[in-house]
Amino acid sequence: MLMYAASTAGLAAFAQLPSEAEARTRSLQGTPFTLGVASGDPRPDSVVLWTRLAVEPLADDGLGGMPRTPLPVRWELAEDDSMRKVVRSGTATARPELAHAVHVEVEGLLPGREYWYRFSTGGYESPVARTKTAPAPGWATEVAFAWASCQRWEDGFYTAYRDMAAQDLDVIGHLGDYIYEYGIGATGGRRNIPLSPAHNAPTMTLSQYRLRYALTNTDPDLRAARAAAPWFLVPDDHDVEDNWAADQSPTGMTPENFLRRRAAAFRAYFENQPLRPSTLPAGPDTTYYTRLRYGRLATFFAMDERQYRSPLDINARLDPNRTMLGAEQEEWLLDGLGRSHSTWNILANQVQMFQLDRLTDPGLQQLNPDTWDGYAAARDRLWAGIAERRVSNPVVVTGDAHVNCAAELKVGYDDPSSPTVGVEFMGTSITTGGNGSDMTPGGAEWLAANPHLKFFNNQRGYVRCHIAADTLRTDYVVVDRVTAPDGTASVRRSFVVESGRPVLQEV
Ligand SMILES: [Fe+2]
Repeated sequence: MLMYAASTAGLAAFAQLPSEAEARTRSLQGTPFTLGVASGDPRPDSVVLWTRLAVEPLADDGLGGMPRTPLPVRWELAEDDSMRKVVRSGTATARPELAHAVHVEVEGLLPGREYWYRFSTGGYESPVARTKTAPAPGWATEVAFAWASCQRWEDGFYTAYRDMAAQDLDVIGHLGDYIYEYGIGATGGRRNIPLSPAHNAPTMTLSQYRLRYALTNTDPDLRAARAAAPWFLVPDDHDVEDNWAADQSPTGMTPENFLRRRAAAFRAYFENQPLRPSTLPAGPDTTYYTRLRYGRLATFFAMDERQYRSPLDINARLDPNRTMLGAEQEEWLLDGLGRSHSTWNILANQVQMFQLDRLTDPGLQQLNPDTWDGYAAARDRLWAGIAERRVSNPVVVTGDAHVNCAAELKVGYDDPSSPTVGVEFMGTSITTGGNGSDMTPGGAEWLAANPHLKFFNNQRGYVRCHIAADTLRTDYVVVDRVTAPDGTASVRRSFVVESGRPVLQEV
């Protein structure tokens, strides 16, 4: 009886919600779609649609100048870009607890199809955006993929995203450092855009992380790329704090305080990304690693190399008890690779996989403890597992390093005649580090000290990858400047890999 009473009360409250809430949307002073729209996690039959309402996106409290009440948001998905043939629609609730973010899982879609979508509320309509479902199992002849990482807002303009948005892509991957946690000066760094003092401090609290995502997502080129194709995303260190590992902060926060910070960072990350609602973090924990299947042609394994890793310690890099992925994710990855029927198996990962000695002196080695070089035993274990399972064409794609590199992956790096087991394409930053230049003294040293490293470039940009049955082609796109708007994008270098032959061939 009590339960019956409770449920009718609940129904009554629910029934009242739309009309009252709709009345509230009419009080919005200006468009709430300032942060754009996005789609993510494409499957053969479903995709996630995202938006976050913010009338004043840069309001200091990170809440976007929105009323502190739930608001209904209408969404529509159509077969055409003029939105005439709507095939799915509904109303979602944007709640103040999630900073008025909306994550809609649209199901029952057709595989390998383009769709267009938009949101509306309070008489305002969002722009129309494009998405695309993954192909049916067994049905894919080619996949156009691009990835990016490292977009420190105050380091420059997101011109690379303007070029990415103009491509006809099936899917876009973001491999981390979507935001940086540092304080931004009052003049907005190299962008020279005045900011309120709320942006000055490093991001520590939920409202500070929310504000940083809002600042980032107000960029028109980034919004265009998010509206051009579905994304998959995994965070890296700066999305929380530089070089963090599990519950360890490199700046000496106690694990308890750091996990509080991580919870705030993960919450704001979820609110601002087209992730499945199941990714909503429980405190400081959530599962980001995921697999996307593109028929028999390609499977993407998006990996999480922060939450489960052992503490940074270059002296312990050969310790087999250390882990980069954590036992559960490592088993998930190797199991998935072992069961994959795809021709190409793409390991989308945060940090550099190939061994990179930064010194030319043959007697000396300088390795970065934050990369797989700091977890060399775990790397050997991963590649032994890949060999054992005879995984078809493993290809590693990477972010984090703010330089373009292409490398052949070895079983033993110190013996140049050891077999090549895979290839790695490391993509540069969107902005982090500023304009850069084609070659830097460090880059020349890297090439000289590492014979398996075939390409180095220190400009900003992103990487495109065209996957077909017999070949995988990679184009490194660079922009001539990011410290001023309207830079020019061009392809700096292209490589082809033939199926069954893990060798980088220059085009
Ligand atoms: Fe970065």
